[in-house]
Amino acid sequence: MPTMEVDGQMVSWEGKKTILQACNDANVPIPHYCYHAGLSIVASCRICLVEMESPDPKDPAKMVKLPKLTPSCQTPAVDRMKVTSKSPKAVANQKAVMEFLLINHPLDCPVCDQAGECYLQDYSFNYGRAESRFEEDKIKNPKKDIGLHVLLYSDRCILCTRCVRFTREISGSGELAVFGRGAREEIDVFPGKTVDNPLSANVIDICPVGALLDKDFLFSQRVWFLKSAASISPISSGGENIFIHHNHGRIYRIKPRFNADVNKWWISDEARYTWQFVHENRLHACHRMQYGSFVETSWERAYAQTTEDLQKAVRDNGPGSTAAVLSPFASTEEMFLHAKFARSIDPQAWLAVTPPRIDGQDQVFKNPATGAVTFTIRAEKAPNRRGAEKITAHFGGNACALEELAEKIKNKKVMAVLASADPLPGMDKPVLAAIGAAPTLIALTSRHTGLYEKAGLSMPTCTWAEKAGVYENCDGRIQAFQQAIDPLENCRSDGRIFWDLLAHEGTHSAAAVRHEMAAAGLADYANVAIPQVEKPLEVMEFSAL
Ligand code: SF4
Ligand code: FES
Repeated sequence: MPTMEVDGQMVSWEGKKTILQACNDANVPIPHYCYHAGLSIVASCRICLVEMESPDPKDPAKMVKLPKLTPSCQTPAVDRMKVTSKSPKAVANQKAVMEFLLINHPLDCPVCDQAGECYLQDYSFNYGRAESRFEEDKIKNPKKDIGLHVLLYSDRCILCTRCVRFTREISGSGELAVFGRGAREEIDVFPGKTVDNPLSANVIDICPVGALLDKDFLFSQRVWFLKSAASISPISSGGENIFIHHNHGRIYRIKPRFNADVNKWWISDEARYTWQFVHENRLHACHRMQYGSFVETSWERAYAQTTEDLQKAVRDNGPGSTAAVLSPFASTEEMFLHAKFARSIDPQAWLAVTPPRIDGQDQVFKNPATGAVTFTIRAEKAPNRRGAEKITAHFGGNACALEELAEKIKNKKVMAVLASADPLPGMDKPVLAAIGAAPTLIALTSRHTGLYEKAGLSMPTCTWAEKAGVYENCDGRIQAFQQAIDPLENCRSDGRIFWDLLAHEGTHSAAAVRHEMAAAGLADYANVAIPQVEKPLEVMEFSAL
């Protein structure tokens, strides 16, 4: 494996890499602004310049020292190279670049959302000068609304052009550009255009300073208060890897989590902003219908009534008169317990899966210059249809589509239904239309609407952020997600509810259910890799850039 020496440390790499790429992979710090692993290399910011010696191509035994500083982001790493980013010449350059970038910078860190995860702030501390020699008035620019989610504070911009390259190379929409020349250069949108493409908010993540900010997160939390959980987007079947940033039981934002095989560095705006349902319109108590109105009931009574109602349906109408409706928004572990519980009461219970909503066709983004696919937003709007199908196939026996189940309910063949509802507003409409007329309807739902209105008994459940589990994306990739926040007041996850109903021993956990699933023959779930977040937030965010 080729190896080079960087600031006294040995760095090895495989394949073709630039000096900066090899150092980033080996966690050897070299400052950089304009370089981003997911974008083309422009070497414009000049803070990554290093001094280097490399073997003479004509006489490899001889080392040649380059007289000038070299951009490490653009220079290929070569075996036996010697690189220093700490020589007096390199350090003088870093200080000069920092001084130049801060000339017109407003230095408004106390009111800037980027503070705490800002390259300019950190590099100013690590590589900058203690004092400014600039005495003239700074250029001031007003903030500008440039898109549905994005605000531009152009006097904080360091003109790294990451955002411009993103809209040209990844979203292919090209709304942003550098306008003007020399001291008048600035980032802006083309006249009459806004940054409203379905991947638009990624420019906020890749902006290394506080020039592009998220309207949704604006002034809502200092980033050093946020905790992070590694999760999977619950919005579509693509299985985009995300971080949920939260504090005191409340979600504040969603950020992309790098996965080379799924979403790389990016996520769709849909995955980023569809989390408010976690805190809206939630149920906090079990309810049962009594004389035409809902009354609160305890978890113990709800559990007892669930078992009694289902057993009564089987007693009165025979096996096969009950059904379990699985939600493709539930984790695979939860669906396993759901089906197991339904079959423990009625061995011929019907299993049905709520069909996911399909929004048109997959949206495929391409780099206009190369034609390479850069991102795909899946049309199927549920994270775990594949998992639901796998569980249904595993249990075998009576299984049917939701429309068929509706027919059976209409013909009084199925009298009792235990349904897990989809958590997103409006998404349980198809299931509601199909099973709303069941004489006995028991709903596991997190929301006050939809199935809750029709159910004779409803139990308040957790959203994906309040539990752990696995989803299987449309490509058959099984991905685990961590619990981010505690279950909201009095809510329980579907998994916990079925664990209790099955009278399983011990405390419910997704890992315990996966163990049980593997023992039952679902071998894919024996060794699921659990994503970990061990680094502090700012280090984690930077490593993703
Ligand atoms: S707005 Fe941010 S990402 Fe875009 S050029 Fe300026 S500093 Fe770079
Ligand atoms: S990171 Fe190398 S010049 Fe900007």
